Amino acid sequence: MLTILKERTEEIEKVAAKYPSRRSAMLPVLWMVQQQEGWISQEAMEEVAEVLGSTVAEVYEVVSFYTMFQQKPVGKTHLALCDTLACAVCGSMEAAEYLKTKYGIQKDKVTPDGRFSLEYVECIGACSIAPAMLVGEVLHGNLTPESLDRIIASCP
Ligand code: FES
Repeated sequence: MLTILKERTEEIEKVAAKYPSRRSAMLPVLWMVQQQEGWISQEAMEEVAEVLGSTVAEVYEVVSFYTMFQQKPVGKTHLALCDTLACAVCGSMEAAEYLKTKYGIQKDKVTPDGRFSLEYVECIGACSIAPAMLVGEVLHGNLTPESLDRIIASCP
């Protein structure tokens, strides 16, 4: 029985119709879930498996492969700070320290008010503007204390 996806069956059918196999619609359907719920729970994986005629194990394989899918609850705004070489050299850990010290935003935690969460991620393809961070789906680079202040102030 669907709970999380109950209201979205029509939308899912439209997406699934674009693919030769329903299982091929797994990425867009999982993305729908994440946009709606903020993360992909076990219950959500079971529902995706049910609507796409897949197994929960297959859904889990996809969710756990792509780092863009969150497997635990995140803050209203999720920050994905790159800590790979170019960003590390250019100050991503200093940015992380600033977020922690000034705003209490800590790696792998949700702030007590539920506003932010932070994870470190591998290269997000923005090395030329290192240090870089995804704020939700929006890329920010050349992070400085000033730009971090602006970013944090602009978030709901
Ligand atoms: S190393 Fe950070 S974006 Fe490439």
